[in-house]
Amino acid sequence: MQHEFSLSYALSLDDKDTLSNYREQFYIPYLQDKKAIYFLGNSLGLQPKTAQDEVLTIMEGWANFGVEGFFLGKDPWLNYQQKITPLFCDIIGAKKEELATMNHLTVNLHLLMISFYRPTTTRFKIICEAKAFPSDQYAFQSQVKLHGFDPVDAIIEVYPKEGTELITNEDILATIEVHKDSVALVLFSGVNYYTGQVFNIKAITEAAQKAGAFAGFDLAHAAGNIKLQLHDWQVDFACWCNYKYLNSGPGSIAGAFIHERHLSNKELPRLKGWWGNDVSNRFKMGDRFTSTPTAESWAMSTSPMMLLATHKASLEIFAEAGFDNLVAKSKTLSSYLFFVLNHINQADEKFSIITPDNPDESGCQVSFSVHKNAKTVFDALLPNGIFADWREPNVIRIAPVPLYNSFEEIFIFADILRQLIEE
Ligand SMILES: Cc1ncc(COP(=O)(O)O)c(C=O)c1O
Repeated sequence: MQHEFSLSYALSLDDKDTLSNYREQFYIPYLQDKKAIYFLGNSLGLQPKTAQDEVLTIMEGWANFGVEGFFLGKDPWLNYQQKITPLFCDIIGAKKEELATMNHLTVNLHLLMISFYRPTTTRFKIICEAKAFPSDQYAFQSQVKLHGFDPVDAIIEVYPKEGTELITNEDILATIEVHKDSVALVLFSGVNYYTGQVFNIKAITEAAQKAGAFAGFDLAHAAGNIKLQLHDWQVDFACWCNYKYLNSGPGSIAGAFIHERHLSNKELPRLKGWWGNDVSNRFKMGDRFTSTPTAESWAMSTSPMMLLATHKASLEIFAEAGFDNLVAKSKTLSSYLFFVLNHINQADEKFSIITPDNPDESGCQVSFSVHKNAKTVFDALLPNGIFADWREPNVIRIAPVPLYNSFEEIFIFADILRQLIEE
């Protein structure tokens, strides 16, 4: 696509954008009495205007029926989850039985590792990306120790080649091959939180399983951002949070995927609670666990209805807009973002873009390292009406998202950045 660095061109792209009206369905933050440019959908997605009404409906059910709200009213809480899960299938590329909405991301990572990290004396290693999100690193370390292993021997990190920022698929596959007799679990993110690099989930899954290991993914930065086909790719399990691209609110309820071939495997150990017990006899209060025949059998505790309400509000917008349409717009937004960044950087290279510009290897987020006065440049963005994200030592991350960002905002951002890096 041949782009231009001009406001009129950016506005012409917005005119052609059939999804531009969805922006009206979100509260856009204000700075100095003006609508801000919010490029932090990779951190906390914006609030859908319908979210408050959904929460209110739950509050009313509580007021009117007390605990009977689980069974009474127009939307009994017991069936609520069944309404939400089908809205998710397209986003994750999963069958509805393979999805669970429960807990929070790190908790789900631990619960799924209880099932899928079953080390033996000979097969005990976890292969992961170097500099995985800290919470994941802590989870890996504590799980390894729980089984009596030393993280130094048991955690194998794949690093970028010296002098580069990105981890190549070849290096991931080669590492799996080297450790093929001792690897128990390969666990990568779908999109690296720092670089914005998309990993090849299908290839990693194939290589892990060929080596005799399980393949699991932390999709915090992938869910609602890039096209996923977890079922077809034969991924063993995955988990993600719903507060980033999925706009379900701060600390919102998280998601988990377990491939259908594992759902009826009684040998797979798991931690159990009554909410994973089949609904048909859950309230008979028996002492024998009858597993729900879906991934929801990994759920343990009573559903947090207020969290499900905001989640539902957001997923309904995704369903209406169509996830494939959103991904298509996201690719055009990103293509324009790469263009404007390269345009302002061409004369005298003031920053380096870390995120790959190949559309198969990136999603909404673009990370770039600023060579001089990086923190000063970043600190000047907010007073200029731009919400962006800082990562030490000199990286700015921005993530225009298709539901509420525009081409105009990308142009304005680039024009401001151009002035800031010149100062
Ligand atoms: C990649 C990744 N993993 C894990 C987490 C931790 O998520 P939570 O605090 O919801 O457990 C985050 C949070 O941003 C993340 O980005």
